[in-house]
Amino acid sequence: MTTTTPAESTGDGAGTPEQDHFSQVYHLIMAAWGSQAVRAIASLSVAEHLDSGPLSAQDIALRESSDPAMTYRVLRAGAALGLLTHDTEQGTFSPTPMLAVLHEDSPVSLKHYAQAAIGPAFWLPAVLLPEAVAAGSPQAVQALGSTVFEYFGKNPEEARAFGAAMTDLSTPVIREAAAVIDVGTATTVLDVGGAHGVFVSELVHRNPRLTGSVLELAHVAEAVAVEARERGLEGRITGIAGDFFESVPTADIYLLKHVLHDWDDTACHAILSNIRDAMPPGARLFVVEMLIGEGGASSGAALMDMAMLFATTGQERDLSQFDALLAAAGLCRTRAVALRSPYCLIEAEVR
Ligand SMILES: C[S@@+](CC[C@H](N)C(=O)[O-])C[C@H]1O[C@@H](n2cnc3c(N)ncnc32)[C@H](O)[C@@H]1O
Repeated sequence: MTTTTPAESTGDGAGTPEQDHFSQVYHLIMAAWGSQAVRAIASLSVAEHLDSGPLSAQDIALRESSDPAMTYRVLRAGAALGLLTHDTEQGTFSPTPMLAVLHEDSPVSLKHYAQAAIGPAFWLPAVLLPEAVAAGSPQAVQALGSTVFEYFGKNPEEARAFGAAMTDLSTPVIREAAAVIDVGTATTVLDVGGAHGVFVSELVHRNPRLTGSVLELAHVAEAVAVEARERGLEGRITGIAGDFFESVPTADIYLLKHVLHDWDDTACHAILSNIRDAMPPGARLFVVEMLIGEGGASSGAALMDMAMLFATTGQERDLSQFDALLAAAGLCRTRAVALRSPYCLIEAEVR
């Protein structure tokens, strides 16, 4: 049996330092094609199809109504990336443990994230990253004809995929965050810009006295009830269609995850001020964001910052920048808890 092993050398590897550097930079560049191959493998549901055992490209193409020859080439690339093994004698592909992450039933799935994070809404503006740097402004309008969130409003399929992608990306860190939030005597929690509501769902699931809601743009808010039903939380979580720049409903606990990084300081001030105005006495705000490290950028946050640079007016920030945003809105940080790198939970209350 001949099996293609993951991460094969391109033949340009070991040698002089110059050759090694050439190889390293070459792989950085080729990662763009690799990430699109991962996206295709997720879209073809390869992980789910291989549940029943090894399959040929032809088998998968038949199930997915895709082109057999092209499906084969994508699967071969998946083997080169370490997601699959390829039995060239049998002509079949089998999963490696890594492929499980692209399975929709995995407790730590990135299937939807693979499809949406490098889908048109981000991939098209990403091409204009050098132009963004030259102009000092994001390029979503140039690439998509509107801002990213307006684009999702006009493209419901992509909006659904993005919401599901946020659930994928958020799930592991949200479990950690919810574990360190003591809800005390609170009975209501509001997830501001909470997408399909993964954060509030986790908190409500852990705390039977809580009921939750998600303030979202109208086209996203519809998905909240569906998600709540799937999680067995029907009736305990509701979607509220609204705009966090207009007003924010009252609650005992506010959640704000991966929202501030989408916006510049002026917009963050508006969001945080609306939250502060709505907070009853004793209410608390929990912000979860990636932190740009003290002694330089952690790589996860620095790369996410690129998406903010080309697609939004926002940026990843360090703790002192979050403190300044909170203070300007009449809030103060009472706690910061490091979560899985590079995430941090910031707790705040009215000053
Ligand atoms: C990066 S996502 C974060 C989603 C979720 N909090 C999470 O971390 O998984 C930002 C969310 O803000 C929502 N959003 C954008 N503009 C909004 C607005 N003006 N009012 C309410 N929600 C908004 C988007 O629809 C999107 O779901």
